[in-house]
Amino acid sequence: MSGPSDQVKALLRAHASGDEDLFYSVALQLAAQSARRGHSKVALELRELIDKSRSEQVHRGQPTPIGSPRGELSELLAISYPDSGLSKMVLSDEISATLNRVIHEQRQRDQLLRHGFVPAHRLLLTGLPGTGKSMTAAALANELSLPLMTIRLDGVMSRFLGESASKLRLIFDEVARRRAVYLFDEFDALGSDRGATNDIGETRRILNSFLLFLDEAPSESVLIAATNHMSLLDPALFRRFDAVVSYALPGREESVSVIQRRLASMDSTRVNWDRVSGEAHDLSHSDLVKAAERAAKDAILSGSSNIETSLLLSSLVARRKPGID
Ligand SMILES: Nc1ncnc2c1ncn2[C@@H]1O[C@H](COP(=O)(O)OP(=O)(O)OP(=O)(O)O)[C@@H](O)[C@H]1O
Ligand SMILES: [Mg+2]
Repeated sequence: MSGPSDQVKALLRAHASGDEDLFYSVALQLAAQSARRGHSKVALELRELIDKSRSEQVHRGQPTPIGSPRGELSELLAISYPDSGLSKMVLSDEISATLNRVIHEQRQRDQLLRHGFVPAHRLLLTGLPGTGKSMTAAALANELSLPLMTIRLDGVMSRFLGESASKLRLIFDEVARRRAVYLFDEFDALGSDRGATNDIGETRRILNSFLLFLDEAPSESVLIAATNHMSLLDPALFRRFDAVVSYALPGREESVSVIQRRLASMDSTRVNWDRVSGEAHDLSHSDLVKAAERAAKDAILSGSSNIETSLLLSSLVARRKPGID
């Protein structure tokens, strides 16, 4: 009889090959084996987990294959399963409201579809680097319990005429086949004439194919295009999206929240937050997280869990200088 480690290996193999039936059958064997060994509580929990995840798939109406993209697709898409949601982000009220609305519509999409309405599923995220665009895509995937598929646009843009459009088709076939959040990062590579190819005609054609696919994409999956070069995008593009979300540098209060969240495991009761927020201007969320991390590491390595104002101030100043961590 095979031992638990064989079954864990079999589970992993089934997962890696994307064979769901095999995956569940091995999982059921594992539950049966636990029962035989007298671990009835574990067996029961396993069976409940299996039933729950199977019924969720049926409920979704379309199975979500568990494997990673294979073949040519694997060069175009990277799959991940983000583990933190929107609550980990510091967002303006306006952005929060837009994102929560998308989540709500997606969660209730059956109800909307029954009445002939389509849930929001195409988002354009624009704004400066490090303000949370990629993080938003990950957080939406987490909130909707979907995998995040990040599209490698450099892989899509081909020097060879016609090839890019067929790669896009492959990606959009996957969009229709597998419910997920799809992130087209650095979308401006498609949306402008700045693409990897110097042939403007070709870039236009790719963009046009993208827009056609976007129009036809089923509302099951969420499609997110992100860019920090809004000005390079043709404004006619914007109306193709259900929502355009603009990310800005954090204001004073937001800056303090970003730093405080990153320092949650430290003692920062002595910090003068007024002075810190005064030094935080013009820095992105990402810069602030990194400055907070630097201050925390300095404190820890000098044997303290206490964050001093001066330490944070010097980390913020260092963040503005190029070439520092
Ligand atoms: N709104 C936010 N709230 C909290 N942390 C944030 C936020 N935005 C960014 N961060 C932090 O900065 C890191 C980088 O952010 P992210 O990758 O989402 O930026 P981006 O807008 O996609 O930048 P780019 O345009 O360079 O791709 C995140 O992993 C997180 O640590
Ligand atoms: Mg990004």
